Amino acid sequence: MKKLLATVAIVLLSTTAYADKAFKKCASCHSIEEGGKNKTGPNLWNIMNRGTAQGDYKYSKKFSAWAEENPEWTPELMHAWLENSKKLVKGTKMNFREKKEAKRQEIIDYLTKMGIEE
Ligand code: HEC
Repeated sequence: MKKLLATVAIVLLSTTAYADKAFKKCASCHSIEEGGKNKTGPNLWNIMNRGTAQGDYKYSKKFSAWAEENPEWTPELMHAWLENSKKLVKGTKMNFREKKEAKRQEIIDYLTKMGIEE
């Protein structure tokens, strides 16, 4: 039993470390655990389900206006946002670009995991 628990712990630790790697680029500005604090950007818990600009955070006017037109974070929209945030939303405070689709997908998988299953 002890051995089994140790194995489970190791598996859990390694998946967390892997996921952390994809999110590393975001972590300087975003927390993602439930109830986490805002940093430069909003907390991202449950972001793939909660809708755009729904955090308890002071979004820029440009982002808020865009969010009214685009209320849902679909995977497609998230790809466009992470590929070039300033291109998708002119005037947003977030400046981020990830050219590689596979890397964006890794991040999006992690964002999806860090939320309530629907
Ligand atoms: C240098 C800081 C910075 C980095 C790095 C950064 N962001 Fe952001 N992010 C922001 C800011 C600031 C906002 C708020 C934008 C606004 O109000 O215009 C934001 C907003 C967002 C939003 C919209 C949240 C909502 O409630 O709709 C998402 C999603 C997001 N970021 C995801 C990410 C992901 C994923 C990464 C890493 C791949 C990342 N960000 C990297 C600063 C950053």
